[in-house]
Amino acid sequence: MTSTIITIATMKGGSGKSTVASCLAVYWHLGGRHPTLIDADPQRSIMRIAARERALGGVVVVEDATAEASATARCLSHSSGPVIIDTPGFRSQTTLDCLAAADFVLVPVKASPFDIDRMLDMLSVLKDRADGRRPLFRCLLTQTTRDSVIARHVRSELAEAGLPVLRSEMTNRVTYPEASLWGATPSLIDRRGPAAQEIAAVADEMDFVLGTRQAAA
Ligand SMILES: Nc1ncnc2c1ncn2[C@@H]1O[C@H](COP(=O)(O)OP(=O)(O)OP(=O)(O)O)[C@@H](O)[C@H]1O
Ligand SMILES: [Mg+2]
Repeated sequence: MTSTIITIATMKGGSGKSTVASCLAVYWHLGGRHPTLIDADPQRSIMRIAARERALGGVVVVEDATAEASATARCLSHSSGPVIIDTPGFRSQTTLDCLAAADFVLVPVKASPFDIDRMLDMLSVLKDRADGRRPLFRCLLTQTTRDSVIARHVRSELAEAGLPVLRSEMTNRVTYPEASLWGATPSLIDRRGPAAQEIAAVADEMDFVLGTRQAAA
């Protein structure tokens, strides 16, 4: 039995990939799921955060931004809990390979029209998969202001383009960058706080989607 490979990707820099990747990993780790976080980005954002004081609460972090990153993910999926891959914010062979290895592709989208255009580029990459197996795919709105016009607009634009969006959002909160200063995520700082609750909602919704797929298989 292999565990789920979750690839976090967009071709747009700064959309929240590394933040979401570390938040999900810490959340599942605190829940006893033994996730592994692969840093496949040569910028090494995850490695840098993990080197700080709180060390992402002890989450296992593997650095592999080489052409072997997807093979590393497959290998780890035999021995760990969910494998979460943080990819670079540009198109690269490593990203394409990590998309091809994914059971679940999570695409963080900032509530801006520019991010949507890059997202659509990303979808064409997903359709190009050679083995015909489509991974589960969900967009996640990040850095939003709840109930803002732009967030609602982006949500409906994605829906019109036929792109499924998680109901849960990661809103714009200073707690995210502040926690990373200490090598932490909001779940490690204040487990019951509002940011930790939204991370839990995103993770649980992903589990629900994955569970539904498994039940249907
Ligand atoms: N929900 C949020 N609220 C506030 N700030 C956020 C949130 N999510 C991310 N950020 C901040 O936005 C910046 C970009 O986030 P992050 O590094 O996660 O993006 P990225 O997609 O990984 O970027 P890159 O493409 O460069 O790898 C960081 O400073 C991060 O702390
Ligand atoms: Mg990043």
